[in-house]
Amino acid sequence: MKKSWISERIPVESGKIKEALFGEKIPNHMKNWLLAMGTTPFILFPLQIITGMLLAFYFVPSTEMAFESVRHITEDIRYGFWMRGVHHWGANLMVISLFLHMMRVFFTHSYRKPRELNWIIGFVLLFLTLTISFTGYSLTYNQVSFWAATVGTNLVKEMPLIGGFLLEMLRGGEGVTANTLTRFYTLHVWVLPIVITLIIGVHILMMRMHGISEPEGFKKGHYDFYPGHFYKIIVVSLFLISVLSLFSVVLPPGLGEPANPAITPLHIKPEWYFFPVFLLLRLVPLKLGMAITGLSVILMIFWPFVEPMFSKKIKTRTTIANTIGMIAIVIMIAFTILETFSII
Ligand code: HEM
Repeated sequence: MKKSWISERIPVESGKIKEALFGEKIPNHMKNWLLAMGTTPFILFPLQIITGMLLAFYFVPSTEMAFESVRHITEDIRYGFWMRGVHHWGANLMVISLFLHMMRVFFTHSYRKPRELNWIIGFVLLFLTLTISFTGYSLTYNQVSFWAATVGTNLVKEMPLIGGFLLEMLRGGEGVTANTLTRFYTLHVWVLPIVITLIIGVHILMMRMHGISEPEGFKKGHYDFYPGHFYKIIVVSLFLISVLSLFSVVLPPGLGEPANPAITPLHIKPEWYFFPVFLLLRLVPLKLGMAITGLSVILMIFWPFVEPMFSKKIKTRTTIANTIGMIAIVIMIAFTILETFSII
């Protein structure tokens, strides 16, 4: 058979590389995108890196210039508002898709043996994604972002044993100052992107080594990753770019007022995905709120090892997991709505 120009020069056709990249057999349930949701953050993350790099060409990480450089990007640079809008909405969509991915893994019980460690690696990815969002939010250096950084880092102090040290490390001193901005910038533009890229690599490698789980209740059978699923990923990527572009035009992120450390605004709010914790900390004493949050997070991280303690019967375990999962989701949604509309 005559080989094409490209396959003569890059002979992946015959090699093991093609098998490794495209030879995967995928369970039938992955035809439903909601059940293949992990690919969404996988697509969005490189997009964040590209738009972030373009923003970094213009952003100046100094307390005097940060806000002004964001204004310059938004108002003066050609397509700057688009770059910023896609980066802003991409971060939000990344968090939403991560929650959906976690929910699908949880309710299909795919964290069970032998995938317990990949669940924990996933949790590390969630934590790092929330941290990269938090540090990015603070870079705009407007009133809301400055005070969100102040309140957010204050909470770190409440952590037992290492709280004080961690606060000092994060802020580079007592208060939120130029040092804090430099540290957040360093974390946001290179430390966290590199670490997240490496950990996504480990997560995908683990997933490929185990093969994707085949949950109960779905039609058994497999299909080839290439070409069907591969083309679907391309189409979804184009769809995501279109949605993000639309959002950046219709709902562009605002600029707000430049940060003023001397004036505390009346309403300080973090990003929406911290609302449940934010509301809880407003409702109960700080130490109790931190303890409830910390214990819930630890419970979820080690859930694959906690669940078997409830019962030997898989059916009972499934019922318990589903009930706890549903209660957690209802509480999270209710708290987010209450905080969004400032009902309490
Ligand atoms: C940047 C973050 C993440 C990326 C890019 C990512 C990507 C993926 C992809 C592409 C898969 C293949 C199956 C699917 O698409 O659903 C997968 C599977 C998996 N993920 Fe993630 N994931 C991330 C975060 C998480 C989080 C936060 C968790 C849970 C705490 C998690 C737990 C798992 C587990 C246990 C599997 C195996 C599921 C199975 O075999 O059915 N991942 N991930």
